[in-house]
Amino acid sequence: MRRRAFLQTGMAAGIAGATGLGSTPSHIRTTPITAEGPLRLSSNENALGLSPAARRAVIDGIPEANRYPGAKRRELVAALAAKHGVARESIVLGCGSTEVLQVMVQASATRRCALVTANPTFEDVFDYGIPETYRVERVPLDANMAHDIDRMRDLAALSWDPVLVYICNPNNPTGTLTACSDVDSWIEDAPANIRFMIDEAYFEYVDDDGYWSAIKWIEQRPNVVVARTFSKIYGMAGMRLGYGIAHPDTAAHIRRFMCQVNANELALRAALASLEDGGLVGRSLDANTRAKQVVYSCLEELDLEYLPTQTNFVMHRINGDLRTYRERMREHDVWVGRPFPPMLSYNRLSFGLPEEMERFTEVLREFRTKGWV
Ligand SMILES: Cc1ncc(COP(=O)(O)O)c(C=O)c1O
Repeated sequence: MRRRAFLQTGMAAGIAGATGLGSTPSHIRTTPITAEGPLRLSSNENALGLSPAARRAVIDGIPEANRYPGAKRRELVAALAAKHGVARESIVLGCGSTEVLQVMVQASATRRCALVTANPTFEDVFDYGIPETYRVERVPLDANMAHDIDRMRDLAALSWDPVLVYICNPNNPTGTLTACSDVDSWIEDAPANIRFMIDEAYFEYVDDDGYWSAIKWIEQRPNVVVARTFSKIYGMAGMRLGYGIAHPDTAAHIRRFMCQVNANELALRAALASLEDGGLVGRSLDANTRAKQVVYSCLEELDLEYLPTQTNFVMHRINGDLRTYRERMREHDVWVGRPFPPMLSYNRLSFGLPEEMERFTEVLREFRTKGWV
């Protein structure tokens, strides 16, 4: 199907879903990311959009949007506490998980603290280290593209001052995993000056027996905070809702730095409906797997190496200069990922819908015929 026709089909379904006109079967995609315009494969969004149940909850919630959202906040906190088997006091809602990461970085800052991260990794945490507060130690990923836990651990051990350790697992931009057993053994032995910020934004996408959540530590270890989000598997990036999970004392400390009423009524309703939509995670995973297969088979056909991913994006070789590649993609109405030094011969490609990835692969094949990749 040509892109325009495909988008129009999606748009028609989207309007029906958004207005509540007609009942859209839940397995049917109800909207494209945009009605017209570029293929947006640069921000690791979920192209399925809000689930039909979340959409309905948002529309039904509009009459309540003039009220402060206390009741729905409490409801969502209770739902998340039940989901993760933790106390309600352990849940901290954020404006996306970004707010949780930001506040962790800022609330942990002292005069001589260090921030230990992998390289490359998700860059937001660096943006929040107030200039000259943190000594930043970026440790290259190891040969398996996992966090080099031994080196990070050695570096952290050099300090008596607070050390904030950021572990993004799976890692953005590489989509790769770090063995949770290695993370566990570090957490188990770590002194209290070492604080762990474990970012599990892509948790639900992982299909690997050696992977599990760090949430299991939060009761015993006040120095561990786990960040989760509704932006990825739940398709709510534009609604801005994420959360941290931590020991109640740590959660109380973090909360003091956050906007007290930071989640809006409609986002809260969408999140509650998403959690209750038992098929949502499966649908997202299914679309992601199909999109991934389309991309993998094209990359293999073109002999462009890629890092097998545990997320909704993939890092792949481009055989050339990243800036030029991205500009050429833009000229073809395709937005692809930003630079992640030192991996400048790779592009980070987010997965859209399978049909969107077919369109992307057409462009990539055209690039090959022109000798651009
Ligand atoms: C690893 C990681 N953490 C956190 C975020 C922030 O997501 P949000 O603030 O939408 O929850 C992102 C967004 O792409 C991410 O990739």
